Parts: sequence; C-alpha cells; structure tokens
Amino acid sequence: MTGLQIRGLTLELGARATPKVILRGIDIDVPAGSITGLAGESGSGKTMTGLAVMGLQPAGSRLGGSIALDGPRGRVENLLHLKPRAMNALRGRDVAMIFQDPTASLHPMITIERQLTDGMKHHLRITGREAKERAIALLERVKVPDPATALKKYPHQFSGGQLQRIAIAIALSSEPSVLIADEPTTALDVTVQAGILRLLRELCDGLDLAILLVTHDLGVMSALADTVTVMRFGEVVEQGDRYQVIREPRSDYTRSLIDALPRVPTPDIPGLSGTDTH
Ligand SMILES: Nc1ncnc2c1ncn2[C@@H]1O[C@H](COP(=O)(O)OP(=O)(O)OP(=O)(O)O)[C@@H](O)[C@H]1O
Ligand SMILES: [Mg+2]
Repeated sequence: MTGLQIRGLTLELGARATPKVILRGIDIDVPAGSITGLAGESGSGKTMTGLAVMGLQPAGSRLGGSIALDGPRGRVENLLHLKPRAMNALRGRDVAMIFQDPTASLHPMITIERQLTDGMKHHLRITGREAKERAIALLERVKVPDPATALKKYPHQFSGGQLQRIAIAIALSSEPSVLIADEPTTALDVTVQAGILRLLRELCDGLDLAILLVTHDLGVMSALADTVTVMRFGEVVEQGDRYQVIREPRSDYTRSLIDALPRVPTPDIPGLSGTDTH
C-alpha cells in the first residue's frame, strides 16, 4: 500500500514513573488517493497523532510503534527511527501538515511568493524562475484568484478562506505524498468551509495524495472521508468505511457522537464524495 501505515503508535509524556499516556497503540492506514478521517472528542489525541507523523511531538515525548511511509520517493519503514536530520529533510517534503488557523503556518512579514518558493527551492533544487512558475500554477490549482498579484501580497491582505488555500499551496509546494489536515475548516466561516473541503477532495484525487483529515465533526467526515477512524482517550474505538461508521457504528461512543449531531448530512454532497458507488 502506498501512503502511511501507523501501527501500535504510543506516546507518553511526563516522568517515566508517573507517565501521562496520550496515545495507547493507534493503528491507522492512510492510503494514497484517499481521505482518511480521524474523529473524536477534544483531547482524544487526534492532533498528537498528526504531530507524531510530522516528528513534531512535544519535547520529552516517548514514542513507540511504527509509522511507515511509502511514496514516490521510496519507502521508510519507520519514521520514528529516523535521525533528527533525516526527519527534518522529510518533513515538509514528503509529509506536510495544515492547521486550523492558516496564519499559524504563514509568516506575516514575508510575501506569499517567498513563502511558496523557499521550500520548493530547498527541497526540489530548482531555479528561482522555475519556482515562481510553479508557485503560480499551485495558486491556480488551489483556486486563489489572480495568482500573479497574489504572489506580491502579504498574508493580512487575504481572507481566512483564501489564506487556508494559500497554506495548502505551501504545504503542497514540495510535492509531498502525505498531507495531514488538522481541523482545516473549523476556524472558517461556514460559507467557505465547503469550498475548502471540496478542494481537499480534488487535490486528493488529482495528485494521488494520502490525506489524513482530523476533525471532531462527524458531519464533515460523513461528507468527505473515504474511511473513518474514531478515537477516544488515545485509543481507536471505531474504524471502517464511512457508510458503515456513520450508519451502523459498532461502538456506543461513536453512536453518541452521531446522536449529538444536529443532523447527519447526506453523505453525497456533490463534488465531495469519493469515487465509491454506495
Ligand atoms: N504540549 C503538550 N504537553 C502535554 N500534554 C499535551 C500537550 N498537547 C496536548 N496534550 C495532551 O494530549 C492529549 C491529546 O491532545 P490532542 O491535542 O491530541 O487532542 P485532540 O484530539 O487533537 O483534541 P482537540 O479536538 O481539542 O483538538 C490531551 O490530553 C492533551 O491535554
Ligand atoms: Mg486537535
């Protein structure tokens, strides 16, 4: 399978004698060309799982298990065994992450052009001119209007939805095979949320990306994810095809999350669903 394979992932913080156990043996597959949803209440360990994949867990964390990455640049058996230097090289190049607040991954005083091209020049070893052409193509791909002008601007000159598109373009600038999207629409106006979700679906299908979509929102899950994993207290309590998880949840906990939804949207919003034919 190309993509990410997380097996028995554990994460502990604090003193060894009195550890705070954050992840208790997580198994998740994030295959290329599909969106893997990761749901669960606040504090269940969703963000920590994403950060562990990026090698960005809090200092002093003790990690166990394995995270295998199989992509166009080859296979890494276990990211957790990489030396810091190798992990730094891989982060941003093979695995990239976007966050709830797009400004968190953007520098306020640097033009969009530089923020888009710096990573490309570093990771892809291309010239400034090539990088600029790619930057324009990427902004077109994420549907930022007037890319040539947008390159000259600074983050504060864009709306939240446009900034999230730009953050996605930056995340994709080094052609990663895995994208972790941690609550990418939670901070956005409802009117722009669907557009960002639709974009993630298009990018997933068009670029054969493996997307891990973290959200506490089962409504978003049911509309967008191919498979859904539900976590609670650092454990996986439910995993499966989105239809199975939403319609016939096996765990009482998942059922309680579904019952708490104001209304489960139909899983077939045009342009959002995958290629399956349920
Ligand atoms: N830097 C940190 N140091 C110590 N504990 C932390 C740190 N960050 C998070 N935690 C703890 O790790 C656990 C999992 O947190 P995590 O942020 O992964 O949850 P989450 O599922 O992403 O929640 P949310 O839906 O609120 O984003 C929580 O108990 C949290 O308190
Ligand atoms: Mg989180």
